[in-house]
Amino acid sequence: MNLSGKKILLGITGSIAAYKAIYLVRLLVKAGAEVKVVMTPAARDFVSPLTLSTLSHHPVHIDLFQENEWANHVQLGRWADVMVIAPLSVNTLSKMAQGQCDNLLLATWLSATCPVVLAPAMDEDMWHHPFTQKNLQKLISIGHKVIPVEKGELASGLVGEGRMAEPETIFSFIQEHFFFREELKGRKAIVTAGPTYESLDPVRFIGNHSSGKMGVEIAKALYARGAAVTLVLGPSAQPNPSGIETIRVHSAQQMFEAVSDRFDQTDIAVMSAAVADYTPVNTAAEKIKKTGDRLVLELQKTPDILRTMGERKKNQVLIGFALETTNEREYALEKLRSKNADMIVLNSLRDEGAGFGKDTNKVTLFDKSGKEFDLALQSKQQVAHQIVDTLISIYYA
Ligand code: PMT
Repeated sequence: MNLSGKKILLGITGSIAAYKAIYLVRLLVKAGAEVKVVMTPAARDFVSPLTLSTLSHHPVHIDLFQENEWANHVQLGRWADVMVIAPLSVNTLSKMAQGQCDNLLLATWLSATCPVVLAPAMDEDMWHHPFTQKNLQKLISIGHKVIPVEKGELASGLVGEGRMAEPETIFSFIQEHFFFREELKGRKAIVTAGPTYESLDPVRFIGNHSSGKMGVEIAKALYARGAAVTLVLGPSAQPNPSGIETIRVHSAQQMFEAVSDRFDQTDIAVMSAAVADYTPVNTAAEKIKKTGDRLVLELQKTPDILRTMGERKKNQVLIGFALETTNEREYALEKLRSKNADMIVLNSLRDEGAGFGKDTNKVTLFDKSGKEFDLALQSKQQVAHQIVDTLISIYYA
């Protein structure tokens, strides 16, 4: 599969298996991916940065500071579509599990907003040690994916479990999990995202704090799995994602019309927009002048897009969101039922790192068969992939 345009950040730690990272870089670059390498200082003893920079066509990053210049780990962490740490030594694993940050690789990992894949490498006894397994579970619980170790000859001369997976296996894993299995090929999806603005006059509106980030990531995650995606995006600073038909709208009514026109031809609809529930009865043609101490606005209900599509749906899979501040679970389940959705994604504004504007989110998914999936706090990109993974596992597996 062609990986052109895909950005892969490869982290290499101090392990004898580091030599295999050279082959991995070659495979990825040959498939068209752009690869940047970040190493721990210990990795330098096992593999030459010169070889890696030559093969990746990019400088290799090792130190937090180089010749009075600060290495921008935040930029590096945000650049990637996926970060792969291969090999992952037991030392780096244990530091990650504690959120430590004493080298550039760890700083970059802590700044990464993309999915993270780990390919551990160590001796068998270390691999089976309860602390190693506990540390791995910690990272899995925040959404990291682990490529299982293989059995074979180890650096110690013993034969057993602990060998890093072969570069071809890691390559296929990345391809399959992220770039992608195209389970949704031939399907059409529509996603609403962002806020809506309800105009009071030519200069003012009623709006909300949605940035559109969550919905844009969902549109990208559906597209990555092969769906033809239409994104109906309210006023948002997010750029149009490439490969996705993006329709920019302003008001709840416009969003409703854009969805309604396409819904019958759609297989999957995800309503992640924060749509205004009320809009002014009249929009003043000229700027409303300041007069008395009080101003009374008369508002009327906007069309409820999710509810209307729920009433109209035939074979579509309909996913709604619920943004709550109290009785979260109860209200989410009520929305699932009353709006005839197949799944509801609940965010609570009481959860740190969740909701409007942030790059992270913490959600719980409720499906209509009564299943509940509590996802860890993670980047909106990762949340989006997990929502789409869940959708596929229930409806398209
Ligand atoms: O955009 P970000 O800054 O990344 O933030 C993401 C988010 C917090 C906006 C997103 O994760 C989220 O929670 N979106 C739903 C927000 C919301 O308006 O929830 P609600 O509980 O008020 O609405 C319930 C559902 O009905 C939602 O699917 C909503 O899109 C839909 N709805 C609501 C009103 C309306 N008139 N039409 C609708 O379709």
